[in-house]
Amino acid sequence: MTDQTRATNFKNASYLADPEDVRRVLLLYSGGLDTSVMLKWIQDEYNAEVVALTVHLGQPGEDFDEVREKALTLGAVEAHVVDAREEFARDYVAPAIKANALYGGGYPLFTALGRPLIAKLAVDYAHRSGCDTIAHGCTGKGNDQVRIEATVATLDPDLKVIAPVRGWQMGREEEIEYARRNGIPIKGGTQAAPYSIDDNLWGRSSEGKWIEDLSHAPKEDVFQLVTRPEEAPDEPERVTVTFERGVPVALNGERLELVELLYRAAVIGARHGVGIVDHIEDRIVGLKVRDIYEVPAAAIILPAHQELEKLVGTIHQNQFKPQLDRQWAYLVYAGLWYEPLRQDLDAYMQAVNAQVSGTIGLKLFKGLARVETRESRNAVYDQSLASFGESGGLFSQQASPGFIELWSLQSRMAHRVREENP
Ligand code: ARG
Repeated sequence: MTDQTRATNFKNASYLADPEDVRRVLLLYSGGLDTSVMLKWIQDEYNAEVVALTVHLGQPGEDFDEVREKALTLGAVEAHVVDAREEFARDYVAPAIKANALYGGGYPLFTALGRPLIAKLAVDYAHRSGCDTIAHGCTGKGNDQVRIEATVATLDPDLKVIAPVRGWQMGREEEIEYARRNGIPIKGGTQAAPYSIDDNLWGRSSEGKWIEDLSHAPKEDVFQLVTRPEEAPDEPERVTVTFERGVPVALNGERLELVELLYRAAVIGARHGVGIVDHIEDRIVGLKVRDIYEVPAAAIILPAHQELEKLVGTIHQNQFKPQLDRQWAYLVYAGLWYEPLRQDLDAYMQAVNAQVSGTIGLKLFKGLARVETRESRNAVYDQSLASFGESGGLFSQQASPGFIELWSLQSRMAHRVREENP
């Protein structure tokens, strides 16, 4: 171990590894530059064995066989790829839909939802393959380190963590140099300085480069998923989303498994330029940053869910739930997936969503997804009561003035008091 590693390895948390005790490391391996350099670096610096784990959460265009081969080539003693798309959709994205989860009003939390699952699988595979330590490629500036380490420390307090990128003080250039020296292939060549990307079936984020300059309008090359609205088709497209108990089950009347449904919604949304979010975000670690998100599936599913929920909920539920939705999103954003409050809130989400069944129709056109039609047997809605000019049945217009007198009583009195005693 180099002196630099020793120096940056001081143990200021219970779950951090003592370098001497690191024997076999479960590395969360994406196949990208950071984790590829790590794979080699950990073997050299700690004289430890590395087991690579790659989690498939629906990253578009990823060749997972290639990633696995690369890990083995770089000296991993085992390399696992886990297809966790179904679990991700069912146990992470579906609850987020029920909670209308948007952090900061715009971020559907795809990364934040993925991390606790990735960390849980890391703990599983560490146990299975006899690892004492988990390694990840997060930096010390982001939320992902919080999400992964909080989850690992929650699920197995005996497992240790190393986060080499936080300590090794190599910049991108030095990493490329290290890769070259150690025969590590670099995707996209050494010239390409890509944005920092994270993606899964619920969305895609880009950070870094000009994105950090808040006065810089988005460059076209950042959008890899969603068609730019001005280039979207001139004809609108209509899509219906059917929900059962808060979970989407059909698209345009066709019943689909959730993973497939989310994938198809993303394709339709992307075609029409829907789901581009240019977001300033308050990170958990204090920083404010800008992210460019492409979330075409969420841009269709979330508004549809919210609309249906509003239709089946009472005025009181509809006033109350957004506060809990917000708290749910915040806890998940903040990496506290296992926080009991999140589970308590889930119970409420579950209760409300028991009524959220029906179909919402949206019109997609050049970057916009607008709700057009609504249908639910649970709607707290009666067309004959709502209809203009009709009277009778449950709703008596003659009852209204009495209601208004009592409803406005305190407000009227208070107004008078303030007028008399200015
Ligand atoms: N800002 C988002 C979040 O904190 C996206 C993070 C993307 N992560 C990444 N390693 N590029 O959840």
